[in-house]
Formats: sequence, C-alpha cells, structure tokens
Amino acid sequence: MRGVNVLAPVRNVQVDSYLDGSALASMADDVRAGLTREPKELPPKYFYDERGSNLFEQITALPEYYPTRIERALLNRYAQEIVTANAAEELVELGSGSASKTRALLYAMAAQGTLRRYVPVDVSESVVERCADELVEMYPGLRVHGLVGDFEAHLQHLPRGERRVVAFLGGTIGNLYPPERARFLRSLAELLGPHDRLLIGTDLVKDRELLEAAYDDSEGVTAEFNRNVLHAINRELDGNFDVATFDHVAVFDPEASWIEMRLRARGEQRVRVPGAGVEVTFGDGEEMRTEISTKFTRERLERELAAAGLGLERFMTDAGGLFGLTLAAPAERASSGAA
Ligand code: AVJ
Repeated sequence: MRGVNVLAPVRNVQVDSYLDGSALASMADDVRAGLTREPKELPPKYFYDERGSNLFEQITALPEYYPTRIERALLNRYAQEIVTANAAEELVELGSGSASKTRALLYAMAAQGTLRRYVPVDVSESVVERCADELVEMYPGLRVHGLVGDFEAHLQHLPRGERRVVAFLGGTIGNLYPPERARFLRSLAELLGPHDRLLIGTDLVKDRELLEAAYDDSEGVTAEFNRNVLHAINRELDGNFDVATFDHVAVFDPEASWIEMRLRARGEQRVRVPGAGVEVTFGDGEEMRTEISTKFTRERLERELAAAGLGLERFMTDAGGLFGLTLAAPAERASSGAA
C-alpha cells in the first residue's frame, strides 16, 4: 500500500473481570467467622472500600509512614538493574492500584527496548481501567491486559508470558499469616518460568518506636483507617457497630515479628450484624485484631523463598535498612528423567 499509513485505532487494552457477585457472601462468611472466634478478628482486606483506600493514600503521605516513600525511592534507584536481570518484557503487578511506583519499572523496560506488556491485577475495576488507559497513552505499542480480581484467588487467570517480572509491592505480603504466605509463595513459584522473576516489597524489622509510630500516627489517620472496617461492615452487612467507641491499638509483637492493629471496645457492648447472621458481645476493653503487618529480615525472606522453590537473587535496601525489595528467581529444577 502506498501513501500515508493511517493507523487503525488498535485497542491495546484488555480487561478481564473475575469478580462474580460472590463478594458480599464471602464478606459475610469472613465477618461471621471472625466475630465468633476467640479472640475476635477481622480480615484487613475490608479496610479498602472507597473511603478506606483514600485513607490509605493519606497514610502513605504521613511523616511517620516511611514504607511507601522508601519503596518508591528503591524502585527509582534500582529499576534498571531489576529489569536487566531477565531482559524483562512484561510487568505483572499484583495489587497494582494506581501503579504510581511501578512507572519506574515500565520506564526502565522501555529504555532498554524490551517493554511489551503490562498486566495489572487489582480488585477495583475502575482503578485497572484508568491505569490501563493512561499507560497505553504513555507508551505507544504497550499492551495492557488487566485482571480485576483477588491476587490470591485469581492467580490462575494470569495470561501466559515470557520474561516477566511479577511484582508484589507495598509490603502487602506481610498481611498474610505464615502458612498463607508459604502457600502464596508456592503458587507464585509454580507460575514462574525459568526466565521470569518475582519482585517483592517488604517492610523490615527495626526499632519498636519507629514501627509503632508508623501504625499510630499523630494525626490519627491510621486510627480512622482501622475503624473504617467497622463502617464497611455497617454499610455492607447492615451492622450496628458504634464505631466511635472503638479505640485504635497498634503494637509490635517481636516474637511473631509483626505489627498488630486492633480495635479495643470502650465499654461493654452488644453488636448485631444481620447480613452476617451474628450478634456478639464485646467486653469492656476487649480487643479485636484487624491486621498483622509482618516485618522481615533478609535471612527470613531467603528462607521462606527457598521453601517455596525460589532463590533470592538480589536484596535491595535503603541506607537505614528500613524497607527491602527482593528479586527472586525460580530455583534450578532438577531435570526430569534424571536417574
Ligand atoms: C498496605 C498492607 C502494606 O501493612 O503497612 C498501613 C496497610 N496498615 N497502615 C501496611 C497499613 C496500617 C499497609 N499495607
């Protein structure tokens, strides 16, 4: 064909949703199980409704909350080294959000001429779509294949890829209990080909004072974020939590090596959550766990990765050793058919 090549508007964006309308039923199950357990406990994933996501955004800008700032700085500083390790062609991001920290990786992939595809995975459809549109605009030729779903439940729907960096940032892996984390790392390891890499962001062990301040800021934003799970339950499951009568608690447990957030009832109270089919009593001062946020060491990461069939390839941290980025690769598998 001759003349001007009028580019056909190729749609480089695909978004698949795996949310199937069972979300409310799972929330009801989780809330019923958590409130009838001793001690009571609620899963942290219900913090993140629209208000909670906004509160978390505010947390990331607090002077006390260092993880987001340091992780961003580490990504900016090490992006090039990360993507050259496997000549990365594809970035898969679990819990992508607005992908603000990931830009550095995409930029480095584009600069080395290997950027082909970005695969964001997030529970929020609008977040995935907005981010996809913005990035295809920014990187002509980039394909974006977004997945709307849960990073644990829907891993099997990730498109097959080559030379991927699978990123799980922010320290969110620290919200999982050790057995869940082991299971999650194993399923990630299974999905990696020999030329894929895993990039994990983790908060690191440090002074109790610094840790507890990061989870109990002077402006009370984290306290509001913590209580937001009760607002979410009241709204979604018709609960009658008197939210203001629950105090925010954040304590470091050095034995378990995690920060634990709790809500402490001020005064005895009876709470009904019809949508979850429960009615429970809180004693005066009773504490309910709402989140664990595990703090790692390089040794622990190395050990847990090895147990999942992964080898730690690079460990990147700031001068103060506050936060860590770990690049891991599938451990050499014994060749099949060996005697
Ligand atoms: C988003 C899960 C990484 O554990 O530090 C922030 C959530 N909780 N302040 C974290 C959180 C309290 C955060 N993660």
